[in-house]
Amino acid sequence: MAEIFPSILASDFTRLGEQVRAVESAGVTTLHCDVMDGHFVPNLSIGPPVVASLRKFTRLTLDVHLMITDADRFAPLFIEAGADCVSVHQEVCPHLDRTLKMIQSEGAKAGVVLNPATPLTTLEHVLEYCDYVLLMSVNPGYGGQRFIPFVLDKVRRLKELRERLQFGFAIEIDGGITLDNVGEAVRAGVDWIVVGTSVFGDPDPASAARRLGEVARSAGNLRA
Ligand code: DX5
Ligand code: ZN
Repeated sequence: MAEIFPSILASDFTRLGEQVRAVESAGVTTLHCDVMDGHFVPNLSIGPPVVASLRKFTRLTLDVHLMITDADRFAPLFIEAGADCVSVHQEVCPHLDRTLKMIQSEGAKAGVVLNPATPLTTLEHVLEYCDYVLLMSVNPGYGGQRFIPFVLDKVRRLKELRERLQFGFAIEIDGGITLDNVGEAVRAGVDWIVVGTSVFGDPDPASAARRLGEVARSAGNLRA
């Protein structure tokens, strides 16, 4: 079943707790936490202390998206802080199979992320170690960017590949998701939908998350 994962990058950090409670009340299961290092992407965001604070505050699953060059060094620190799922970018992980296995052995689900222009073929040898694959639908670094439509074709091809190889990884999408395109993403094959601005940029994040969830679920029913 397709699910909405609100991204705290778009939240008001002075009211983070309140905003987490709001999306909890909307029935979401997972929070997406964007980690940026100012090297791989041209921006900085949060580190392990914020994940540790969230871990004490909520029982929601914490999905940590590492947009950093040194994932091998920092992934264990985020898992120690309470991350349940950790994803790393193919573009900056030269020993991707080893990194994914390390994340799993530290006790988290391991995901690999592809930027929009990075081909699916780069994952040929690591799909068997992935608990999920995150396809970026914007170039990472900022919230509030416009959705890049060609990524839907990648989603369809990844879903076909998963069926053909009989793997169980989830397909996640991240960037520029709104009420207008969430249904299309789900019909293409997405399971986990990261949404920043369209949830926390809304004056009522709980009802925004609920509405997006309803549209995603009805698109999922059509798919099934
Ligand atoms: C982009 C981040 C996203 C971002 C999504 O670099 O990885 O998770 O928060 O935000 P929106 O939904 O505003 O595109
Ligand atoms: Zn993200």
